[in-house]
Amino acid sequence: MTRLLILGGTTEASALARAVAEAGIPAVFSYAGRTEAPVGQPLPTRIGGFGGVAGLEAYLRDAAISHVIDATHPFAAQMSRNAVAASKAAGVPLCSLERPAWVAGQGDNWHHAPDIAAAVAILPEAPARVFLAIGKQNLNLFAAKPQHHYLLRLVDPPEGPLPLPDAEAVIARGPFTEPGDRALLSDHRISHIVAKNAGGTGAEAKLQAARALGLPVILIDRPEVPARRVLATVAEVMGWIADHPTRLGE
Ligand SMILES: NC(=O)c1ccc[n+]([C@@H]2O[C@H](COP(=O)([O-])OP(=O)(O)OC[C@H]3O[C@@H](n4cnc5c(N)ncnc54)[C@H](OP(=O)(O)O)[C@@H]3O)[C@@H](O)[C@H]2O)c1
Repeated sequence: MTRLLILGGTTEASALARAVAEAGIPAVFSYAGRTEAPVGQPLPTRIGGFGGVAGLEAYLRDAAISHVIDATHPFAAQMSRNAVAASKAAGVPLCSLERPAWVAGQGDNWHHAPDIAAAVAILPEAPARVFLAIGKQNLNLFAAKPQHHYLLRLVDPPEGPLPLPDAEAVIARGPFTEPGDRALLSDHRISHIVAKNAGGTGAEAKLQAARALGLPVILIDRPEVPARRVLATVAEVMGWIADHPTRLGE
């Protein structure tokens, strides 16, 4: 029997959940539980980690999951690694729904960083005003350059003091627009942008705004994840589900 596990936390995962619900396919939607009020889904939803590879493998068996669709953010690499390993161990087919990475176009002034530490190193020594569009994780790495003013954009208000001496946070949830992000960058007199190469449309506005304003962007490359079937659209995932009716080997 078909019973999907959708690993969520992205706009694309929510779009897939809508398509699956409309098609009447039994499924469970899973959130890590990082935000206080996650977007509601039209599917039964569970929240919280599984307990590593072993925990996820046990969940796949106990919940009789027939397919795993990893629709997590491209930077949620631990979850993606665990999903590949647990699905293999449990004999459950897996695909990922992954938006293509952004590619620089005319007028872009991008500097690629292999990871967050490299992005810190690329920032100038002279004091700058930096839009740090990387979420709430790993902010402390930027404390190595305390001379900068940092503007953060977070989904929830920070629980404690920010780990940076000169920082402020705006609280907002995407999708964002180019005029809105251009106004944000101008109002805060931003000189540099640091972002993850997330891809997709919901978070692209800051790159379009940077292009319009002629601002440099330090773009962090995606982390490595093990080889797996990668699909770019909801329609492709729906086709893949139809082509894989049962657990592997059944
Ligand atoms: N990283 C980003 O930049 C980013 C941006 C936007 C949204 N998100 C979303 O935020 C969530 C967490 O991202 P992350 O970077 O912290 O992940 P991560 O580092 O890859 O995962 C750390 C642990 O969190 C749990 N986890 C992650 N995603 C989960 C899910 N969908 N359902 C259940 N457990 C999950 C797993 O715990 P166990 O080992 O206990 O199973 C995983 O090992 C993901 O759903 C992701 O799509 C992340």
